[in-house]
Amino acid sequence: MRRFLIAGNWKMHKGVGETSAFIEGLLATDPSPAVDVVVSPPFTSLPTAAMLLTGSKIGLAAQNVHWEASGAFTGEISGEMLTELGAEWVIVGHSERRTFFGETDRTARDRARAAQQAGLKVIYCIGETLEERESDRTFQVLESQTDGLGGLSHAGLVVAYEPVWAIGTGRTASPDQAQEAHAFVRGCLERAFSAVRAEGIRILYGGSLKPGNAHELLSKPDVDGGLIGGASLDVESFSAIIRAAAVCAAGE
Ligand code: 13P
Repeated sequence: MRRFLIAGNWKMHKGVGETSAFIEGLLATDPSPAVDVVVSPPFTSLPTAAMLLTGSKIGLAAQNVHWEASGAFTGEISGEMLTELGAEWVIVGHSERRTFFGETDRTARDRARAAQQAGLKVIYCIGETLEERESDRTFQVLESQTDGLGGLSHAGLVVAYEPVWAIGTGRTASPDQAQEAHAFVRGCLERAFSAVRAEGIRILYGGSLKPGNAHELLSKPDVDGGLIGGASLDVESFSAIIRAAAVCAAGE
């Protein structure tokens, strides 16, 4: 019932020229219609990406959004500004925002709420650090990070479970570790929304997801797609992950 979503988070990579080349290459691969695909370039590349993606099924995400519609917030961008540029999605609460820019559960939720009010779909990131996992606090952290999500609309909400220790490290959660965390998060979403709504919310896995491990991770019942960093920067590897999702969607 949940369609796979494969989202590439480019982080601070690819200016306008590289964005054009990537999107032209991706469109040429004719991604599977059975899989939802989203790319998330830096703000400065959004207009170019939006123009090239017009008429395609590939969605466009920004990587951050402010919680106010306008005001004296130097360096920030509002939801309305993003939709005006053609973005339909936004990533909120990424661990890099939390680690380097003081993002908290509170600010992430505020951003997500404002994004939804502006008509954006939200990819809401959560995940524990290595220290939290090693001290058996993974579930406690996931519970507090999802606490209050019930204040958002379930429509267009996607949660990304990204264990911080797996991001950019080459160290991936095992399929069983991912499934265990995703099933736990789905339980949290049931309490925040309802069992029926939680069943419909996609939970993506992120953290060193690559063509070589995509199939085994995406085969797990509560893993509904991926939020991909490094491997989303190359058309070949990104489209190989999309193909792996299409194979899983076909039940293979
Ligand atoms: P990597 O795929 O490079 O580990 O990054 C994951 C991530 O942070 C996606 O948001």
